[in-house]
Amino acid sequence: MSATVPFQNLRLPTEVELEIMQAVQRVVESHHYILGREVELFEQEFATYLGVKHAVAVASGTDALCLALLAGGVIRPGAEVIVPALTSPFTAIAVVRAGGWPVFADVNQKTWTLDAESVAGCITEKTVALVPVHLYGNPVDWPPLAKLAEAHDLLVLEDACQAHGALFQGVKVGALGRVAAFSFYPTKNLGAAGDGGAIVTNDELLAAQCRHLRNGGQIGRYVHDQPVFHSRLDEIQAAILRVKLPYLDAWNEQRNKVYRDYWEKLPDCIFPALPPGSRPVAHVAAMCHPQRNRLCAHLKGRGIETLIHYPVPLHQMPAFTPYAGRPCPVAETICGRVLSLPLYLSISEQEQKQAVLAIREFSSDA
Ligand SMILES: Cc1ncc(COP(=O)(O)O)c(C=O)c1O
Repeated sequence: MSATVPFQNLRLPTEVELEIMQAVQRVVESHHYILGREVELFEQEFATYLGVKHAVAVASGTDALCLALLAGGVIRPGAEVIVPALTSPFTAIAVVRAGGWPVFADVNQKTWTLDAESVAGCITEKTVALVPVHLYGNPVDWPPLAKLAEAHDLLVLEDACQAHGALFQGVKVGALGRVAAFSFYPTKNLGAAGDGGAIVTNDELLAAQCRHLRNGGQIGRYVHDQPVFHSRLDEIQAAILRVKLPYLDAWNEQRNKVYRDYWEKLPDCIFPALPPGSRPVAHVAAMCHPQRNRLCAHLKGRGIETLIHYPVPLHQMPAFTPYAGRPCPVAETICGRVLSLPLYLSISEQEQKQAVLAIREFSSDA
């Protein structure tokens, strides 16, 4: 049975899809596909949007995280990097790929993002960096984490892969710390037509190092000073992102409205709380329900697609067995109860109403 309400639908307004086709045509006619004018302009436009000095466009969010850690110069054998136990596995994959040792900290019971107390308990003499994740588009509670990082001289790398345009105390996430990573995976609030990512920073030297690394450590044609992989956003993706960026704030507003509706109309579902002073951008409408698996089956029976972000906390994920460490009870509980509801730009009032009614029907039957 095809879904009555799909989880995701990447359709854009027709006029925007036309603009995208024209942008792709422009690149094809230019015959310039790698590190050209479109990437350069997108980097400037994205940096201006965020209020930072530099953006370095790369091939994915995972690469952005990995290259930012490498460029930060903190990774040496055994270097520990604290990441939340509840996030995309790619946050920790990037740490491992950079040569770091991921240490999983529990998340806060209310916000579901990194908990300063839990982070404090994970800091050792080997800790070199901290990766707060603005999960689902919700900014982390920044001040306690920044204070801890400063006290222990840690590099803070914001994982802003799910939070393009979110604000904390009037500052865009990605501009809060020394360096941040974004993903332009197609489902992101600012998504390409393929993979893409960016590192953003105010630090000129760090930006220069990221540019050097993303080009495979090349210092001249076929001459490299480091054996690093290359990772570049291509011109077609940059041209597409340039079309979409001016719409981002309006699209975030639309997504926020859908999210608020779920929040207001589903009192039996528990949504993550927002830290004071934050303005989120709804990326994933994740909520906890004590009977998640039964609710999920009920919704599937009514043609309403859902997903789970995330089913397994990272410290229990097979890929990270060597790094397992201490238990993270809050993340474990959330992973057992969390369910993501349909949320996309083109969701109609009728589709959302169907999803809401089906959940309410489940609650009244339960
Ligand atoms: C929080 C988070 N970090 C990192 C990534 C990795 O981004 P990408 O898929 O572009 O490599 C993603 C996206 O999947 C993400 O959601």
